[in-house]
Amino acid sequence: MPPTIKLISVTFAPMSKQEKYENLFNQIRSLTTGESDNIANLGNICAAIQHNFQFWWVGFYLVKNNELVLGPFQGPVACTRIGFGKGVCGKAWELKKTINVPDVHQFEGHIACSSASNSEIVVPILKNNEVVMVLDIDSTEFSKFDAIDENYLHQICEYIATII
Ligand code: SME
Repeated sequence: MPPTIKLISVTFAPMSKQEKYENLFNQIRSLTTGESDNIANLGNICAAIQHNFQFWWVGFYLVKNNELVLGPFQGPVACTRIGFGKGVCGKAWELKKTINVPDVHQFEGHIACSSASNSEIVVPILKNNEVVMVLDIDSTEFSKFDAIDENYLHQICEYIATII
């Protein structure tokens, strides 16, 4: 009796953005659980975001001596210091609110660390109602970030506030 060969066709549905964020969030929780070092955790968190979504630039700016100073990031080199109210990052710090910019060229005062960036989202991270750092994500695509990104990145930043 000749061997039978069965051909099985399997189709994989691409993951929705929500599913990707749920996976990312689980990954972030497990990467940071049991680790108390902020730099190690922030480094892994931006690597996890970057590797799940292939954004152009993902990183943290930390409030130090009343300035935002570049922290752990993934992507090309970036500006090291940003003043209060300056650029998208400084504005998110001032307003204590997420700023989603579909076209950075239309944002007055935008600080262009890379000419390849076309849209950007900045989410502040607060402790005791004070901004302690911001998460900044840049994309080469215009209008890259929508309400789903805003919602999940906000949740991730609220989680970060609990571990720093
Ligand atoms: N575009 C930011 C500066 C930081 S970089 O994008 C990495 C801003 O306007 O604040």
